[in-house]
Parts: sequence; structure tokens; C-alpha cells
Amino acid sequence: MVFLNGKFLQIEDAKVSVLDRGFIFGDGVYEVIPVYSRVPFRLDEHLARLERSLSETAIRNPYSRAQWREFIFRVIDAQPFEDQGVYFQVTRGVAKRDHAFPKNVEPTVFMMSNPLVNPPAEQVQKGGSAVSAKDNRWLRCDIKSTSLIGNCLLRQLSAETGGAETILFRDGILTEASASNVFIVKAGAIRCPPKGNLILPGITYDVVVELARANAMPLEFGDVTEAEVRGADEVWVSSSSKEVFAIVELDGRTIGDGRPGPVFLRMYQLYQEFKQKVMRAGARDKRREALST
Ligand SMILES: Cc1ncc(COP(=O)(O)O)c(C=O)c1O
Repeated sequence: MVFLNGKFLQIEDAKVSVLDRGFIFGDGVYEVIPVYSRVPFRLDEHLARLERSLSETAIRNPYSRAQWREFIFRVIDAQPFEDQGVYFQVTRGVAKRDHAFPKNVEPTVFMMSNPLVNPPAEQVQKGGSAVSAKDNRWLRCDIKSTSLIGNCLLRQLSAETGGAETILFRDGILTEASASNVFIVKAGAIRCPPKGNLILPGITYDVVVELARANAMPLEFGDVTEAEVRGADEVWVSSSSKEVFAIVELDGRTIGDGRPGPVFLRMYQLYQEFKQKVMRAGARDKRREALST
């Protein structure tokens, strides 16, 4: 079951016009929310980022926060599987092809949910490889836009070598990866590229930062050079689907000792514990809701 413009439909019955500006121009924004045991993880933070992406692109937000929540819960409830990745996108709508914004157009809203596939434990214990590339995307990477051709071209570079990610540098400075944020560890400190227009403000990035702070793990924000990445003790990527994942080889050369490091393993553990806590709280809230209705 998927959602299209207020209706719940079978995916085969969900149809969008070929004149939709999402199809013609990639003129839309999107979100992906991980759902564990039917409890969405950081729902309000994802909705806040969606609202920001819509406002930065001047696409009308057709729903209130409460309506978004309700539709997302209905999509989750309609699936037969427990752990989900809920994808939703809003495009500017359907109009005669013209770059300038059409007037009085209804945004197109589509939502679907797929089984969530996090890296399996044995892969987390081993880590993965990555290749590097020049970050040649536009200068508004803070907007979660459906115009992802830049990211797709970059991701393909690592996919072709069986790698987990493509790590990106702009003018010799680390930005992020093709579909995740990047952290390094040097001498015990976690180093984070600062938020700004060159990276997506990852929801998982924020969780990592919060967990590091709550557990007194040294944390530094600031530019990270390409040489610092290559010489790091640890390199991690973070995203809603990868959670935190260690990169142990970059461009065929080993990072640190070639295994996920101690700081990563601690963060991974904290992340799993935090997830469990959120799930238990979500299940409690659901029970309370059920009792009060
Ligand atoms: C380019 C990019 N950076 C970072 C992220 C991580 O964001 P989040 O942690 O919100 O999934 C993503 C996720 O899809 C992404 O596409």
C-alpha cells in the first residue's frame, strides 16, 4: 500500500502525470525515515527537515505536521513487515513544461515503505571499503532534493568496485559521502565536518553527536582535509539506513589498522542501545494511545 495525494492505493494503481515537475525537472524534495518495530525513529526531526527543504525550494507544504504524522503512521500500519524505510517526496506539481514556477499548482505527494535493510552484524564487525571523488554537486546540498543525478553518478563509482560509499572532497576538504555523512577519528577524538550548504544535515549525524556528548566522547567540529581522512585512525559513515558503519579501506589503502576501531564500536553499541530505548518508548506510547481510545 502506498500514498498518493491523499489516497491509499496499491502501488500498481499509483499513477503520476508525465508533466509532473518531479519527473521533468527533479523539482521536488524527499525524506527517508527508518522505522523499527513500527516505531518511526526521529519522526519530528525528519518532518522538520522536510519543512525546511520545502521552504528553501518554495514548494507549498500541503499538510500540517499532524497530518504528515497521521499519513506516515497509516503507511507504516499498512505494511506486513515491522522494520521499514518510509520514503516520501513532495514535488512542485503538474504543469506545462516551463522552468519558472507555475501558478496555483497542487504539490504531488507520494509515500511508500519498504523493508528496512541495515548492514548485518557481521558486516558491521568487518567494515567496508570506499572510493574518493571530487564533490562536483551543486552548492545547496543542505536541501534534500530529489534531483539526485550528481549523487547517483558519484555512488556508482564505488558501487562498481563493490564499495559501500563514495567519500567526497571539495577543494581538498571532506564534505560527506554520496548518500551519508562522514566522521573521522584521530587520537581518540571524533571530528565532524560542520553543517552548512555543502552537506545534508543528517538526522543520524545529530544522533551521533548527541550520543558522543552524552557519553563524554571527545568531539570536534571543523574542516577535515583529505590528508586527515587518509591518515585517520577511523572513518565512519552515517545515514538512516546504514546507521553508523566503519570504512576500513579508502581507494585500496587501509584506514587505521583495517578494522572498525574502538571509538566506532562504542558508538555503534550506543546507537543500538538508543534505538532500543526509542522503540520501547514508542511501544509504550502506542499502548497508552490504544488504552485511551
Ligand atoms: C547526501 C546525503 N548525506 C547524508 C545523508 C544522511 O542523512 P540521514 O542521517 O538523515 O539519513 C544522506 C541520506 O540519505 C544523504 O543522501
